[in-house]
Amino acid sequence: MTKPQTWIAANWKMNKTPKETRAYFEEWLRVGGESAWEFGPDVSLVFFPPATSIETVAQSRNTKPGFMFGSQNAYFEKSGAYTGEISAEVVRELGGQFVLLGHSERRTLFGEVDAVLAKKVAFVQSLGLTPMYCIGETLAEREAGKTGEVLKRQLKEGLSLAKKDQPLVVAYEPVWAIGTGKVATPEQVKETHAQVRQELEALGLMNISILYGGSVKADNAGALSKIPNVNGFLVGGASLECQSFRAIAMATAAGV
Ligand code: PGA
Repeated sequence: MTKPQTWIAANWKMNKTPKETRAYFEEWLRVGGESAWEFGPDVSLVFFPPATSIETVAQSRNTKPGFMFGSQNAYFEKSGAYTGEISAEVVRELGGQFVLLGHSERRTLFGEVDAVLAKKVAFVQSLGLTPMYCIGETLAEREAGKTGEVLKRQLKEGLSLAKKDQPLVVAYEPVWAIGTGKVATPEQVKETHAQVRQELEALGLMNISILYGGSVKADNAGALSKIPNVNGFLVGGASLECQSFRAIAMATAAGV
């Protein structure tokens, strides 16, 4: 079986105006020169800007093959009376390829539940876009020995309508590691990613890229990328600076 693709994804959350987005990619080109987007054939970049900056990212991307983007959420209908929601159809029209779904901030702050996420995953796939589906346990759940159970439930329910022959990426982000500077240990990452792989295969979902997220930085990306079943990263804080995100991509490319 071929190795799953490696993705380095930037989750900008509710940061960066269109003007700041333009400045980010201008700097990216200045720093990277001709090979600005190149981190080897096995590593692709995905940017998740806030919805209001997606078009600016689309204009900045320069049609490079390893440079993709998408939204941080999308509703499970193309259009209609859904005030405030994001349409995946717009992402597609702008040339985006991904939709991030089920991030822990969406789950905890905005009440997203697995049953709704399942519909979103299926809808995003039906448009030919790739859902990047996030899962992760809280500190209380890990300390209570419930990590396996929580992840299994999130995978089973949230992916219950996923098509086996359509693209899908899973991001494992322990909630206690997001934005805290507390990265999971290599042992925890190894054990949990192996569990996630096993659960995905039990669901008939084969060769899926499993990303790790939670306080990823340039100085831990290289070592984490060498762990079996780690197929890249979902990066929050360290993706906001062009130089630190590029450093993560470079450290990962050196490791795969
Ligand atoms: P962090 O965020 O890298 O700032 O921990 C990761 C995420 O929330 O996707």
